[in-house]
Amino acid sequence: MSLIDGKKVAQEIRSAIGEEVTELKANAGDVPGLATVLVGEDPASAVYVRSKNKICKELGFISLEHTLPANTQEKDLLALVHELNRNQAINGILVQLPLPEHIDSIKILEAIDPAKDVDGFHPVSMGRLMMGTAVLAPCTPSGIIEMLDRYGVEIEGKHAVVLGRSNIVGKPVAMLLLHRNATVTLCHSRTQDLSAVTKTADILIAAVGKPNMVTKDMVKEGAVVIDVGINRVDGKLTGDVAFNEVEPKASLITPVPGGVGPMTIAMLMANTLKAFKAQSENAKK
Ligand code: GUN
Repeated sequence: MSLIDGKKVAQEIRSAIGEEVTELKANAGDVPGLATVLVGEDPASAVYVRSKNKICKELGFISLEHTLPANTQEKDLLALVHELNRNQAINGILVQLPLPEHIDSIKILEAIDPAKDVDGFHPVSMGRLMMGTAVLAPCTPSGIIEMLDRYGVEIEGKHAVVLGRSNIVGKPVAMLLLHRNATVTLCHSRTQDLSAVTKTADILIAAVGKPNMVTKDMVKEGAVVIDVGINRVDGKLTGDVAFNEVEPKASLITPVPGGVGPMTIAMLMANTLKAFKAQSENAKK
């Protein structure tokens, strides 16, 4: 087996973006801007958002951070999103999920201008993803495709099995794989005889949120295994794949941490740069 080093690939992507931003600054003086919105005190969300803002600054982006209390009202969060939609220095808006229960997440996501939807969660972005015309695809799924490409994994004609049907990972990654001509099977909690399906996977993507659920008996010899799980077990980060037993069977496998995780943030930066470029082009018209 070989490891897919997501940390290294993410670093390469970030370096290339940083160089482009330096050039943009020198030529036009304008740089991409990302606004993050965190509501409440969920510790994991706070860590993710802090890390997104830190990398933003490292790359020379404008970074606008909004941290709101857990009891923020839906109408106030909507007002903030509308204000960010109008802010010309901001090209991307990220509202960290999950939101507190009293706020309708769908309503908030639908309020974001699709041109600034760097998460790719707006229904317009999702629709474009399905049509194969997406400019801004969700970050974790596009990070997975980027890793497969950089490690020379052939996607066309292969059987890709996705475990988990979330809007953030499972459904969009299935769509991206389909657009790359994989034969895709999307499995979930009600799938019958799961291991009979996963054993036929050339590419197996686990995005379930259950520690160590993918065991060696579920994996074909030589499969490429992508572990999207980030589970905390006894204070330690653990993926959805039982790494130690699956790794000898896989031709390529992502570790947790250091696999998919760093790619998500790198692709968020790539999306913000894309959004900036598209908005600059539009402004010229
Ligand atoms: N919560 C978990 N993953 C994500 C993500 O990719 N984007 C946002 N906005 N929230 C998340």
